[in-house]
Amino acid sequence: MLNKERIGALLKDSPFEGKLVLLPTIDSTNLEVDRLYWKGALPGTVVVSEEQTAGRGRRGRSWASCAGENLYFSLVLAPDFEMEKAPMLTLLMAIAVARTLHRKGHQAGIKWPNDVVIGGRKLCGILTEMRMEQDGYYVIIGTGLNVNQPAFPREIAQTATSLKRESGQEQDREELLAAILEAFAAVYAQFAKEGSLSGLKAEYEALLVNCGKEVMVLDPKGAWEGTAMGINETGELLVRHEDGHVEAVFAGEVSVRGIYGYV
Ligand code: BTN
Repeated sequence: MLNKERIGALLKDSPFEGKLVLLPTIDSTNLEVDRLYWKGALPGTVVVSEEQTAGRGRRGRSWASCAGENLYFSLVLAPDFEMEKAPMLTLLMAIAVARTLHRKGHQAGIKWPNDVVIGGRKLCGILTEMRMEQDGYYVIIGTGLNVNQPAFPREIAQTATSLKRESGQEQDREELLAAILEAFAAVYAQFAKEGSLSGLKAEYEALLVNCGKEVMVLDPKGAWEGTAMGINETGELLVRHEDGHVEAVFAGEVSVRGIYGYV
């Protein structure tokens, strides 16, 4: 079981100090942090749960959330920048997770827009949800990180992994959680100050496993293939068509796949 006092001590002097809610089980941490926010919890509140009974993924999928081995957490933010910039927050969390994993010696990368991968397999997914209020908006950023899960069901064994599987070693979930939140606070502060991804773009592109690779753009209007070049300052993926022209692809509309596999 995660130790709240220890995580609290690790988060001392961070913007998340004193804002952690730790639960043994919940339907979804995204749903719970939303409910708490409506009851008056402050922006910056983080809900962490040992397990989720209805973990939610992107595009209406579910997120398998077994107990006691991984990290499932959601934070609520009420940014004062324009709502159009909010979708970029999901890239910030991907940077925070990948940066933290690198600092701890794991060779993590990002599959655009926000899957964190190691060795071509996904170990972290991020679900960002935006909600309107009478006088503005707020955002919930939910992160699921496979930490110590020893094995995965056959259906996802080729595409999913955990830090323990990759490193062969049990990982300290409390330290990881605190380090990711600290890293997120840093990238968020930079983004809010600069008003764009400009200062973080180089780091994101260095982490981007799609960069320079052939990708299949799964556009609802029709799939097409091209070469991923990087991102622009709003986080869209720049993909070069065969005829040389470059198209910016927005994550809300399409997803990408590697031509030869998941990445
Ligand atoms: C994805 O499909 O890649 C996104 C998965 C996001 C899962 C996390 S786990 C914590 C938070 N609570 C949820 O219900 N979903 C997110």
